[in-house]
Amino acid sequence: MEVVIVPDAKAAGELIAEAMAQLLRRKPDALLGVATGSTPLPIYEALAAQVDAGAVDASKARIAQLDEYVGLPTGHPESYRATVLRQVVDPLGLSEAAFMGPDGSAADVQAACEAYDSALVEAGGVDLQLLGIGTDGHIGFNEPCSSLASRTRIKTLTEQTIADNARFFDGDLSQVPRHVITQGIGTILEARHLVLLATGEGKADAVAATVEGPVASVVPASALQLHPHATVVVDEAAASKLKLADYFRHTYANKPEWQGL
Ligand code: GLP
Repeated sequence: MEVVIVPDAKAAGELIAEAMAQLLRRKPDALLGVATGSTPLPIYEALAAQVDAGAVDASKARIAQLDEYVGLPTGHPESYRATVLRQVVDPLGLSEAAFMGPDGSAADVQAACEAYDSALVEAGGVDLQLLGIGTDGHIGFNEPCSSLASRTRIKTLTEQTIADNARFFDGDLSQVPRHVITQGIGTILEARHLVLLATGEGKADAVAATVEGPVASVVPASALQLHPHATVVVDEAAASKLKLADYFRHTYANKPEWQGL
């Protein structure tokens, strides 16, 4: 995988937004896989700014969701569907018709998982999948020891992830759903380009294990090592435990500009 170390979250957002803009110039109806959490917000802000400035036309873009809580009432503001509509779909000037995601309130959740997995394939596959990373190394909601071949399915959150996400539920652990739907690791690996962004010191251990550790299901993000086009963008704090940081800096500094991300 390629590791790109940038000074801060704003620079990361601009770099990845530019990669998304370049994709949309090549393929206007690209299927963009988006992630929730705080980390990708600078990307969405930078991409919306490019659209507002007329630097890129996103009017034909399609947006696919990575994961979802199970059991929140439809329209709950912290459902990932509502979050992605608010943070990505609306700011890009798209309508809900451009959006696809798993149905976390379905009566038959397992069937909803399988339907979403198939829908991604029928839509032609994800062109660029954005990923954040949990402090325990999860991607989407694939918690440690998820099968590296897994498909979209129901998962149970770890205590760590429940605690990490309680901030979106007024800090009340009891309000955080225990179950989720997530694209599986096998599903995620089918996207044509994976871009994982991690910022802040709290992600440094997970980033080091992802990039320099062995491929192991106990660190789900390490599966990116199996993908032919995976880019890991980190700020200095998140890069602070990488032994090969200087090599990654040297490689990126000497990369021909036309190669992009
Ligand atoms: C949740 C999401 C992940 C996200 C993670 C990290 O668990 N399911 O997709 O990467 O949070 O969030 P943050 O970027 O806020 O640290």
